[in-house]
Amino acid sequence: MHTARFTLDPAFTVGEVNPRLFGSFVEHLGRCVYTGIFEPDHPTADDKGLRRDVLDLVRELGVTAVRYPGGNFVSGYKWEDSVGPAEDRPRRLDLAWHSTETNRFGLSEYIDFLRKIGPQAEPMMAINLGTRGVAEALELQEYANHTEGTALSDLRVSHGDKDPFGIRLWCLGNEMDGPWQTGHKTAEEYGRVAAETARAMRQLDPGVELVACGSSSQSMPTFAQWEATVLEETYDLVDYISLHAYYWPEDGDVDSFLASAVDMESFIDNVVATADHVGARLKSKKRINLSFDEWNVWYLPEWEARAKTFEQDDWPEAPRLLEDNYSVTDAVVFGSLLIALLRHADRVTVACLAQLVNVIAPIMTEPGGPAWRQTTFFPFAQASRYGRGQVLDVRVDSPTYETKKYGETDLLHATAVRAEDGTVTVFAVNRSRTDALPLDVALNGLDLTRVVEHSVLADADPDARNTLDDPERVAPHPGDGTALRDGTLSAVLEPLSWNVIRLA
Ligand code: AHR
Repeated sequence: MHTARFTLDPAFTVGEVNPRLFGSFVEHLGRCVYTGIFEPDHPTADDKGLRRDVLDLVRELGVTAVRYPGGNFVSGYKWEDSVGPAEDRPRRLDLAWHSTETNRFGLSEYIDFLRKIGPQAEPMMAINLGTRGVAEALELQEYANHTEGTALSDLRVSHGDKDPFGIRLWCLGNEMDGPWQTGHKTAEEYGRVAAETARAMRQLDPGVELVACGSSSQSMPTFAQWEATVLEETYDLVDYISLHAYYWPEDGDVDSFLASAVDMESFIDNVVATADHVGARLKSKKRINLSFDEWNVWYLPEWEARAKTFEQDDWPEAPRLLEDNYSVTDAVVFGSLLIALLRHADRVTVACLAQLVNVIAPIMTEPGGPAWRQTTFFPFAQASRYGRGQVLDVRVDSPTYETKKYGETDLLHATAVRAEDGTVTVFAVNRSRTDALPLDVALNGLDLTRVVEHSVLADADPDARNTLDDPERVAPHPGDGTALRDGTLSAVLEPLSWNVIRLA
């Protein structure tokens, strides 16, 4: 195996990482909310019913913006059901996930959850543009953000929330291009309602930041034309266009699965090109940024098979749905997706890991029982902790391998981030399932003299997972023999591994 190489030079950067790149997502879906973050009877529950054991893990994970309340759920969401005395809130059918929504956890509880995570946590509220429209969006905005002295702001105060919620970041609907979405629309229909809603929300508060729905994946038949049409309608009114992507080993093709970031990076490049094309046509100086507000590994076919078995009369509360248990292989792909986001930090300025607890999540819980870290927890926590600062421009010279989906692909996937204090962290994935990958990094113009840490996530069993019975089976371990000499970092990346190398 020949040595993979790249050069780091502070003169060549991609851009500054926006803390919102480490966002996550809480949807009323399965057990993400109920028995996930919220379980009033749990031994660790606080006075508002939040699980303290989960809050601790959420803080350790380092999430920033938290998107809420959906997802597909938002297209049936009535915000007014979710406020006021909990005992008066109505039970509703949730069409998206064939469940019963009790509304026991609502808007006020969501804001309380964010405040308890800490000052780094920021609300990112989605509004229902599936079954509702401009009027309801404005009502929610007034209830949430207006200080006092109007019917809806005073209603909030009467519900015990004197301080406004200060929600700045809003999603204009969810996956409106998807036929599965309640209230699914054509690009023209959605573009029109998104523009009307955005204009009205800005009348109430010009300072809001708005995300228009892009495509649910790059493989949607309407991809790119959808973005172009929506942005033609909304360009001056919104700040972001959204992207969603989920990856799994299609037909058991693990080699292509390991290269999923190739798709993610091309998706980002194509959306940037489309947005900038619309900007050029409109002769606008404004630049639309990207909100990658749903991304993850998700074994989607398993969910689709399960959905077919739903009994029409059965509308359970908080059923176990989408509770994927992640392997080491999944975590390596997941780490590579994080690298892809960092490599595009100049344009991807919001990103949300879907989701936070139990539902395709880095944190799992048992009702009445413990909470634990999945394998994917570690890359996210490390990237959020050490991936703050300037992303350096990394161009790798790497040995390659052949994949069915993406052709010849680099075995090395990497990025590097320089913090304000001059320390540098290299994030690197070795996609080889069989061979260690030697790596040399030339450090130009960087005052770096030592390796602080080389942390590796890899395992002799790539299928190893953390479970309720064995919650600490997988964790990062130190790398061997990593050295910095004469301005060159040398390391050997274990087969199928996620690596974090910190230099000071
Ligand atoms: O995250 C799970 C679901 O995936 C979301 O509800 C939806 O937006 C997407 O299809």
